Parts: sequence; structure tokens; C-alpha cells
Amino acid sequence: MSLITLTDPRSPVSEAYRTLRTNLSFYSLDNPLCSLVVTSPAVAEGKSATIANLAVTMAQSGRKTILVDCDLRRPSLHTLLDLNSEPGLTNFILNEDEELPLQETGVENLWLLASGPKPPNPADLLGSRKVDRVIAKLSEMADIVLFDAPPVIAVTDAAVLGAKVDGVLLVINAGKTRRDHAERAKELLEKAKVRIIGATLTNAPKDSSIGDYYG
Ligand SMILES: Nc1ncnc2c1ncn2[C@@H]1O[C@H](COP(=O)(O)OP(=O)(O)OP(=O)(O)O)[C@@H](O)[C@H]1O
Ligand SMILES: [Mg+2]
Repeated sequence: MSLITLTDPRSPVSEAYRTLRTNLSFYSLDNPLCSLVVTSPAVAEGKSATIANLAVTMAQSGRKTILVDCDLRRPSLHTLLDLNSEPGLTNFILNEDEELPLQETGVENLWLLASGPKPPNPADLLGSRKVDRVIAKLSEMADIVLFDAPPVIAVTDAAVLGAKVDGVLLVINAGKTRRDHAERAKELLEKAKVRIIGATLTNAPKDSSIGDYYG
């Protein structure tokens, strides 16, 4: 597995993921976040790496955590976790199976619901009532459910799904995300009545004045 929170838990990057976890847990003390979509304005900005590392740190803090790959167009969480893309969410929805096909990840407290085979109409599928039932079921099973989603600007999937969960975390890539794309993504999510919890900056330049202070 190539996730830094597993391969190098003491690194500053892993520490940053733990800080993100802590900030999210303080976001709303009376109403803890139970379901969260992670997305970004455009492709390849670090959504999947961010959500997977965040999930690992949440699981490591003892919370039952389920990762769900709702990027049905370019699923990748199964690759990051060395697992299979099937069976997954779309199998469950199309076959009306009884049990959600959760996969163990080898990390204590962390399970994956993979994408399953690619459907012809991901946005319609994610907007369906069946997905509401999946979210309700997952929320009963775990302390926190994290959903990976396609980029906001390209397709409506993230906004559709975001409206069904407690909130959305936007990944902004310091070296890549265009300012107008970030603004557009925010507008699109707000129009869809999505609660934006915040943004997390990836690929940020190292600040050498504080970098090594804690070893
Ligand atoms: N924090 C980071 N800093 C720098 N590079 C990163 C970071 N996270 C991921 N990457 C690299 O950026 C590329 C894209 O990462 P990732 O697959 O997580 O992005 P994504 O937004 O999920 O992409 P997609 O739109 O294809 O789903 C990968 O090659 C990954 O190794
Ligand atoms: Mg991805």
C-alpha cells in the first residue's frame, strides 16, 4: 500500500492528515459529521489520496470508518488499498443484494465499499433513492462514512451526492487548481444546496521556518 499515513505515519504529511482529522472533528461538536464527500474542482488534484489518508487516520483514532468509492467514472480507492473494484456499490444497487459488499482493508476499523462495475449513468444512479438507503445503512454501521467523488466542474455527481450527506470537503491543489475553477466549484455546490465544510490545501510548498521543528 502506498498511503503515507501507513508507510510513514511520523512524517509531517501524516501529521497534516491528523490535523485535518482533528479540525473536522471540532467542526461541529453538537452535531458531529457522520457522512462527508471529498471532491475537488478538476481532475487529478489529489481527491482520492486525501480521502484515503484521512480515512486511515480516522480509523487509527478508533472510529469505525467506511470509505465509499463514488467516483464511478474513474474509481481508484481499491487500487490505493490493494483491493478489488468489484463487488461494490453498483453491484449492490443493481442486484438489490441484501448485504453491502464491504471489503476489509487490513487497517483496523477501516472498510471499503468499492465502486463496482461502471454504470452508464453515474449521476442518475447517485441521485437515486437507493443511494439514500445505502447512505442511511452505512451511517448506522460506522462512526464516519467518507465518499470519494468525481470533480465538481466536470460532472454533477459530487453535487448530487453532496446534497445527501452532512457536508463536502473541497481539495484544492496549491500547484494545480485554478482560482476560477475553485470559485466555480464553490458556486456549483452552493447552487445544489450542498454544505461546504471547508477546503484542504494539498501540494503546498514547504514552509522551512516551521518544517522540522517537531522533528
Ligand atoms: N498531497 C499531494 N501532493 C502531491 N501530489 C499528490 C498529492 N496527493 C496525490 N498526489 C498525486 O497526484 C495524482 C492524482 O492524485 P489522486 O488520484 O489522489 O487525485 P484525484 O483528484 O483523485 O484524481 P482523479 O480526478 O483522477 O480522481 C497522483 O499521481 C498522486 O500520486
Ligand atoms: Mg480520484
